[in-house]
Amino acid sequence: MTNAEKMDTSKKHENLVAYEGVELLSNFSPSEFERYCDHKLSTCDKHIQFIKNYCLSSNWQGVVCEVGSGNSKLLYRLELEKLLTCGYGVEASYSRYQFAQKFKNYVASTKVKNINSDLFDLQPLQQCDMIIGVDVILQLISPMSDNAEQQLLSWCFTSLKEQGYLLLEMVDYSSIVAQLPLNDGMLQTWKKFPHSDPFEYILCKVFENENRDLRWEKTFLKRNSLDKEYSTNILRPYSKSQIINLLKETGFAQVSIFDKWCDDGEVDDNGEYIVLAQK
Ligand SMILES: C[S@@+](CC[C@H](N)C(=O)[O-])C[C@H]1O[C@@H](n2cnc3c(N)ncnc32)[C@H](O)[C@@H]1O
Repeated sequence: MTNAEKMDTSKKHENLVAYEGVELLSNFSPSEFERYCDHKLSTCDKHIQFIKNYCLSSNWQGVVCEVGSGNSKLLYRLELEKLLTCGYGVEASYSRYQFAQKFKNYVASTKVKNINSDLFDLQPLQQCDMIIGVDVILQLISPMSDNAEQQLLSWCFTSLKEQGYLLLEMVDYSSIVAQLPLNDGMLQTWKKFPHSDPFEYILCKVFENENRDLRWEKTFLKRNSLDKEYSTNILRPYSKSQIINLLKETGFAQVSIFDKWCDDGEVDDNGEYIVLAQK
């Protein structure tokens, strides 16, 4: 695919194009790039601790695929922890893929392969020990089409070896859904980013769309500047029992829910929980 085709986002679902331009390398000076990467690697402590606690067994091989891998920070952390034989990061956004490639050089990764593609354009992989979908990836991909949810889960199931793990990070949006009718159907939220981020704040307007998915209209305010950027995500507000049933229907033998990553790890207390399913 040429770069011009990569940038032709006109016919794609909003969620697929929402991350075009995210982590654009031109937003970072060399020292900012390094500071940002170091911070991103440190945010993976909770994932690493969880994987060490719950997923490693004596026959662990460490073939891991991350779906919607962003800058591939978690795959690089797994490699740095010597937990990876081979890692695949599948990421649709070209700017994030480019960032991930530069990040790869920064950490001298030899085991992670970044793939710039829509997951649905890829055949399932084979014999993976683990598939990771962190930061609401199932909730983000499911609204993309009528069968996206089942396609994604089947892709993951087929890619895994027997007893392989699917690790999903989800957010429980039930309190947002409950607040909407009390606010004329629309909530406004905001969050401050850490100092290493070129953006300082994100402001969101949240409301339900016709499918009862949550539409998040986001405004990003740049640090030390009046510049703004905008994007939209549509996220599916699953209940925990819904996600357990879906994974069992897909064929997973065991499904467990963890309300936080680990007892003493960093926890975002905004409804985040972890789903671990074993084939
Ligand atoms: C919420 S971000 C999470 C990024 C990363 N996992 C993290 O934790 O930082 C979701 C990512 O999934 C990517 N994405 C969304 N749909 C995708 C698809 N169908 N195929 C591949 N990547 C996708 C987006 O471009 C975005 O970078």
